[in-house]
Amino acid sequence: FDTVDLIHAKRDRHRLDTAQIDWLIDAYTRGYVADEQMSALAMAILLNGMDAAEIRDLTLAMVASGERLDFSGLAKPTSDKHSTGGVGDKITLPLAPLVAVFGVAVPQLSGRGLGHTGGTLDKLESIPGWRAQLTPAEFHAQLADVGAVVCAASADLAPADRKLYALRDATGTVEAIPLIASSIMSKKIAEGTASLVLDVKFGSGAFMKDYDRARELAETMVRLGGDAGVATRALLTDMNVPLGLAIGNANEVRESVEVLAGGGPADVVELTVALAREMLALAGQPDADPAAALADGRAMDVWRRMIAAQGGDPDAALPTPRESHTVVAEADGVLAEQDALAFGVAAWRLGAGRARKEDPVVHAAGIDLHAKPGDSVTAGAPLFTLHADDPARFARALESLNGAYAIAPAGTRIPERPLVAA
Ligand code: URA
Repeated sequence: FDTVDLIHAKRDRHRLDTAQIDWLIDAYTRGYVADEQMSALAMAILLNGMDAAEIRDLTLAMVASGERLDFSGLAKPTSDKHSTGGVGDKITLPLAPLVAVFGVAVPQLSGRGLGHTGGTLDKLESIPGWRAQLTPAEFHAQLADVGAVVCAASADLAPADRKLYALRDATGTVEAIPLIASSIMSKKIAEGTASLVLDVKFGSGAFMKDYDRARELAETMVRLGGDAGVATRALLTDMNVPLGLAIGNANEVRESVEVLAGGGPADVVELTVALAREMLALAGQPDADPAAALADGRAMDVWRRMIAAQGGDPDAALPTPRESHTVVAEADGVLAEQDALAFGVAAWRLGAGRARKEDPVVHAAGIDLHAKPGDSVTAGAPLFTLHADDPARFARALESLNGAYAIAPAGTRIPERPLVAA
């Protein structure tokens, strides 16, 4: 095939067939198709879309670009979760050990944060000694023994996606549903999980601001999973407000441990239990009671073993911030708003996230919320606390929080938004 012919075809709204897509992804992985050609194609796909068969072919070609893990030798069913990313989204931390309590193995290959959404590996690296990199033998052994693994994906898992995702980031072509769906699902299919639950977020702090687009993305991914033999379900969840009270890294680990101890914020518990139920149902246990396993300490036991198996000390003190700054309510009333995107950007500016892939994160940086929308507040009461290693970061963070929260007169009814949408 000629690459320029394929670009012309997509530019002129024609479809690409299986052979063309297979060739394209293989040639791109091997460096024969140049980045500028792939960029042009990505933009043509963003503008003109792809049909269901093209999206399936693209996904399977990206799976075939690297290794595919195989857990068929494991004596347990496997189930995994993927979130499209949000603010304060630490759900993987309590969820993976919780599901493992029921004898379902969770092979969770995770990423790092880029931009305002956090990364699970960054959060876990707040724990002294914990390491994200495992050899394939360690990965398999931990899955068989502990039942839950959260670690970095090897470079050989869907390498075509790795290249293409970096390119999309630099060329304004991240937001195309065919590209997002194939990117996420190629990695999950290659990961080898038998079942998968997707937490597809909508709202200000999500990739997809709009519910209908999030729904389309969810439906596309569920179909891709099914076509590839991975039993897949999706929940659509609200990301207009941060999840829980902690946004950052170390503080999100702290909050996750509270949930594993049977406490923690109600929204984090609700979503953890809802996703666990879906994963367990797909793994053949529709009647399992995950809430009970949080309450009675069984999930905490698995968490401790999971952290220790990767070199971490579950009892070690987590990093604490050098500098903190608390913002208080100016008047009595009800907290009416708390914009997820603005709080995510503020945490990022405090050092909890990174601007470039190579940057380190500051594990103790972030934000602790003291109130959530609907809570009554009194003048002078703390609303949230910013944490950083350098007080110079507070001004920029506060700038992004301008207009991001509001206090309504006492007695105002704030409509409750369901966390899990129908
Ligand atoms: N996450 C991914 O892995 N890929 C995307 O394209 C978007 C989010």
